[in-house]
Amino acid sequence: MSENYEEWLDFAKALAMKAGEMIVTARENSTFVRDYKMDHELVTSTDIAVDQYICSRIVENYPSHCILSEESSPHMDLGSIGDDVPVWVIDPIDGTVNFAHGHHHVAVSIGLYIGDQRILGVVNAPFLGECFWALKGSGAFCNGKPLAVSSAQELRNALVATGFPYQKTALTPIVERVSRILHHCQDVRRNGSAALDLCWVAAGRLDAYFESVKPWDMAAGALIAEEAGAKVGYYLSNASAWPDVVNGEGLLVSTPQLYADFLALIDVDL
Ligand code: IPD
Ligand code: CA
Ligand code: CA
Repeated sequence: MSENYEEWLDFAKALAMKAGEMIVTARENSTFVRDYKMDHELVTSTDIAVDQYICSRIVENYPSHCILSEESSPHMDLGSIGDDVPVWVIDPIDGTVNFAHGHHHVAVSIGLYIGDQRILGVVNAPFLGECFWALKGSGAFCNGKPLAVSSAQELRNALVATGFPYQKTALTPIVERVSRILHHCQDVRRNGSAALDLCWVAAGRLDAYFESVKPWDMAAGALIAEEAGAKVGYYLSNASAWPDVVNGEGLLVSTPQLYADFLALIDVDL
């Protein structure tokens, strides 16, 4: 393991903690305004402020690294980046709808990959007082305590999370998959933060999570789930425009014992 990895992890944790304070303060003081991207996707002034804070600190400290950020560089051409260049993947607020509605399920997500390897992930949930992190090959943790996936053995006892896209026209096949899960599993949760759904699988609070999401939603959480023992795979095999290491299209993450059963349930032509 490169000695830089520990340093980068500490740096990412510090950024995520400070960003979390900004998020809590903005909500306590109601100092944010709402806007809409592409007419339907909520974004607040706090998403932008937190993004600016995180990205400017990365540029200041690691000018040779690249940044893929939901709010300031979502169209970054990842294909042109060398295999040895660290790429930070930032979601300043994962769970913006929750944030704006006064819910607590909100996170800052910071991931870093190099070439085809996820190196580190930090997901800080400031209203919940929980900070999750993982370093490749070193396990996953929540507030310093090691995480492990659940030992669920049967679908009928499994609790499964998913999410729905802002784009309503894409809903029909998702609702059909949710129906299949509901018929065979214990229940379904829609918590509103993909990054936290992945951490909940890592913590054994959920047995599986599936959704089509963007790189910034999953870059950190996928490593945290993986390092806690989850299997990270896909129920859609469509070619993605994103490199595999940050491809969130048709993502299925579950406790390994049940992965094949979940896949059989939702890997259907719809
Ligand atoms: C959203 C959340 C949500 C998921 C959506 C994401 P945002 O991210 O992760 O749980 O269902 O697909 O877009 O917009 O709050 O950063
Ligand atoms: Ca997100
Ligand atoms: Ca976001």
